[in-house]
Amino acid sequence: MLEIDNLVVRYPTGNLLDRLRPGAPRYIEVLAGVSLHVPPGKTLGLIGESGSGKTTLGRAVAGLTPIAHGSVQVNGRQPGGASDLAWRAIRRDIGLIFQDPMAALDPRMTVERLITEPFAVNGVAIERRLEATRLLDQVGLPASFLDRYPHQLSGGQARRVAVARALALRPKLVIADEPTAGLDLSVQGELLNLLGSLQARLGLAYLIITHNLAITRHVTDLLAIMYLGRLVETGPTELIFRSPAHPYTQALLNAKSASAVVLQGEVPSLRRRPAGCEFHTRCPLALPRCRAEAPPLQAVAPGHLVACHTPAVPLAAPSLEAHA
Ligand SMILES: Nc1ncnc2c1ncn2[C@@H]1O[C@H](COP(=O)(O)OP(=O)(O)OP(=O)(O)O)[C@@H](O)[C@H]1O
Ligand SMILES: [Mg+2]
Repeated sequence: MLEIDNLVVRYPTGNLLDRLRPGAPRYIEVLAGVSLHVPPGKTLGLIGESGSGKTTLGRAVAGLTPIAHGSVQVNGRQPGGASDLAWRAIRRDIGLIFQDPMAALDPRMTVERLITEPFAVNGVAIERRLEATRLLDQVGLPASFLDRYPHQLSGGQARRVAVARALALRPKLVIADEPTAGLDLSVQGELLNLLGSLQARLGLAYLIITHNLAITRHVTDLLAIMYLGRLVETGPTELIFRSPAHPYTQALLNAKSASAVVLQGEVPSLRRRPAGCEFHTRCPLALPRCRAEAPPLQAVAPGHLVACHTPAVPLAAPSLEAHA
């Protein structure tokens, strides 16, 4: 359903003086070659600390951020010359739940307007009240919410409205950016249950973006762990929870959430990426080799890849990969 191949996204460096200085970098590479695959009906959790490029990846998939290199395919379609028309067709297949839904919901619009806006934007004629009622019902809210404004919604209700809006055009892939951030634990659970039942009913594929590895265990099929805009480990969720191969993944699993990771040092700046393995400055297991040589993503089991010179799980024999 979603196929990302070697995706590179760059932003110009913010500092104009920097940009004019000869030899100074003109851009920062926020995504440095990410490849991902989300099969139809499956859920992939994209995990990483703040600033690792998670939102940027979601935005690039949805065509909201330009791609420097690599490719994105949604439902078998690639934005050829990225003509507006091609993108529009692809965007209809993607439902977006933005990070911080309160900020994403226009405070001057009623719930009815908010969740039917995608039809208006795409020029699709509908019976608005009827369609809005149907969408609200899908996310477990009564029609009495149609005339409410965002400030009259609780955090959980706002999230449901954001889900209803994302589902409006009957997408096949839903990208949910930190869908449970800021919610009470019980409300988080309700929302994840809702996403799960919608997936079963509508056959959706999900890309769930979060810094909270703990919530992914029961709601994802696959995981991709990102550090400084590169994947360090990816594979089936159960395998990674059972035998995490990368020291970074292990640190994330040991902490309640990424914000509580106990690792030495600070996240390096994207403007000065470390040489060799970019994680070596914080890695408790770093060897001299790690400072010099970047490890490629290699299989430790079929579909379970890790970028580390000293993975906690032995690399799979090449013959095993061939049979995968
Ligand atoms: N429009 C932009 N222009 C320049 N730099 C940007 C822009 N958007 C994001 N960045 C930078 O790209 C990097 C990745 O940002 P991104 O928002 O993708 O991270 P994230 O993983 O979603 O973080 P968070 O968990 O805080 O949401 C950050 O260093 C950020 O400052
Ligand atoms: Mg983000």
